[in-house]
Amino acid sequence: MTHVHFAEIDSTNAYCKSHFDALDDLCFVSASYQSAGKGRNERNWKANKGENLLFSCLVKNGPMLACGPFLSLLSSVSVSRTLEEEFDIHPSIKWPNDVYVNGRKIAGILLEGVGRECLVIGIGLNVNQTDFQGEYRIPPTSVARELGHPVDLEAFQKRVFANVEEDLRRYEDKAFFLSYFKRRDYLHGRRVSYQEEEYLAKGVDEDYALLLGKEGKTIRVISNEISLLGGICSVFPNTCPLFYWLANRSM
Ligand code: BTN
Repeated sequence: MTHVHFAEIDSTNAYCKSHFDALDDLCFVSASYQSAGKGRNERNWKANKGENLLFSCLVKNGPMLACGPFLSLLSSVSVSRTLEEEFDIHPSIKWPNDVYVNGRKIAGILLEGVGRECLVIGIGLNVNQTDFQGEYRIPPTSVARELGHPVDLEAFQKRVFANVEEDLRRYEDKAFFLSYFKRRDYLHGRRVSYQEEEYLAKGVDEDYALLLGKEGKTIRVISNEISLLGGICSVFPNTCPLFYWLANRSM
């Protein structure tokens, strides 16, 4: 595994995008601090220095690139299963790829493409941060907040990278990822608002599209704004990883 680490950088996603030619397939780029960490919907991803995992993995393999939307599912499964295996923390995955613990967000994932050349999977995972200053759309949490004590960041990073790499190498095993997701589906059975109408979230199909039911009919949603009724939960069309992928693939 190739791994490049920076004490400080603007954004590991931005670095991968601008250096993708020189970097290996499945290379990991991490940072202790990002001065301009990117979140979805043009938001910043804020994280205290040296307390969290901030990294990107570059995918250049042709067949794997064709599975864009599925890599979004795969990444959230990798993060979730590592939290379970290492700390007995049991997360939910909010379609398409936010990782929640007890209704709070512990990890965010941003997929970005560079034309048809590569895909960057950027992951921000809150580990030892317990003071979250400022405003958050969704209340944050971290491993340390859930466990009540800090953990060895370096050892955890090794486990996360190993699991992400292992999962990327078995990206074709859709059944594994879908079955994991179905047991951890945050939206399933909840009432959501989509295009100003109320639906019941009914899980995902084999292509990882969200299924919404209303009056006996089921619609498939690939990317759009979904609001959880009675709670905060949204997927914006121009920032959803699936959208990013589709948009960049057609450029
Ligand atoms: C989200 O908004 O939920 C996605 C957040 C993704 C943040 C990570 S941190 C590492 C990588 N580099 C970035 O600039 N963003 C992603």
